[in-house]
Amino acid sequence: MQPVKVGIVGCGAISGIYCRNLRRFPPVELAACADLDFARAEACAREYGARALDVNTLLADPEIEIVLDLTPPKAHYPVALAALEAGKSVYNEKPLAVEREEGRRLLDLAAEKDLLVGCAPDTFLGAGLQTCRKLIDDGAIGEPVAATAFMTCHGHESWHPDPEFYYQVGGGPMFDMGPYYLTALVCLIGPVRRATGSTRITFPTRTITSEPKQGTVIPVDVPTHVAGVLDFRNGAIGTIITTFDVWAAELPRIEIYGSEGSLSVPDPNTFGGPVRIRGAGDEEWREVPLTHPYPENSRGLGVADMALALRSGGSHRASGDLAFHVLDIMHAIHDASNNSAHVELTSTCSRPEPMPVGGIEA
Ligand SMILES: NC(=O)c1ccc[n+]([C@@H]2O[C@H](COP(=O)([O-])OP(=O)(O)OC[C@H]3O[C@@H](n4cnc5c(N)ncnc54)[C@H](O)[C@@H]3O)[C@@H](O)[C@H]2O)c1
Repeated sequence: MQPVKVGIVGCGAISGIYCRNLRRFPPVELAACADLDFARAEACAREYGARALDVNTLLADPEIEIVLDLTPPKAHYPVALAALEAGKSVYNEKPLAVEREEGRRLLDLAAEKDLLVGCAPDTFLGAGLQTCRKLIDDGAIGEPVAATAFMTCHGHESWHPDPEFYYQVGGGPMFDMGPYYLTALVCLIGPVRRATGSTRITFPTRTITSEPKQGTVIPVDVPTHVAGVLDFRNGAIGTIITTFDVWAAELPRIEIYGSEGSLSVPDPNTFGGPVRIRGAGDEEWREVPLTHPYPENSRGLGVADMALALRSGGSHRASGDLAFHVLDIMHAIHDASNNSAHVELTSTCSRPEPMPVGGIEA
């Protein structure tokens, strides 16, 4: 199979790991890099043996079949729309878009033009979450009854060089980190029927402590503590907290409680373990050996899976439909808080196919 040529738009903090991993996965080849800041595109192209182009030239390049959109959230929609209009399939970093209408438009346009839309995260394709998926599918904890998901931290202004976007529309702990947790839950349990929640802004400004903007005070435009309750279509009930307001916590990342036992799910922002299980009669938790490949940081696996689907005409796992359902859930939690209500979801998706134990090419 001829590798699918990929063009990256947005050569910032997260681009390095994608560039390294695109080399690892035979279905894809990094062809070109673009950024509003051309020096960043040049540096990326030099390091990874690709061409540095301006964004419009990249979008017009007939060789490139997938645009990998690694821009900040507010740019995801305009960049992805331009890519689809130029006849390219597109894979966005998360979230798929800021607004539901934007996400819908991307999916509709892709369907019209027979192109694919994919979206991060792809951590659910890794060894840890796929092992959890197999355990659930094999009935190891019985029927899922409930789940908890907790992402607690004090924000990203202590380490990210340009952290402003985390506190603007499209950022906040739910839109930034929620996709890892919600995508994992949908992969493991299935789609969500309705959601409710409460949100708050605790600190109206943040002071950057990372270089090079140390001391800069930035406004906070979005809720930074978000607590949600999710009713899954299969009847399970999920509780999720995502927060940039907590200094320390001792909560698990994700736990799934079944009719026959409980499953401790690894950090969904990683590809590995540990996976632990405790059955109804067990005295202790037991670590389960990982059954699937890709325990290491494999960001880009979802792009490679999408490239295979592009060649075979099949479907891919980190899909636009899944990312749109996750976007809808995140909005529903915020809307519920604003309107003191439960919000029925209009979107749904199927659970993505499990990964083959032999890896994507198997
Ligand atoms: N940094 C991380 O650890 C991390 C991890 C996982 C996912 N992400 C996600 O990856 C995305 C990018 O994050 P980042 O940390 O790399 O951000 P960043 O600010 O470091 O980099 C973004 C790059 O995009 C460029 N850009 C912005 N608008 C553009 C446009 N319209 N056209 C072309 N280039 C444009 C910027 O010049 C910048 O170089 C975000 O959606 C973020 O949520 C980041």
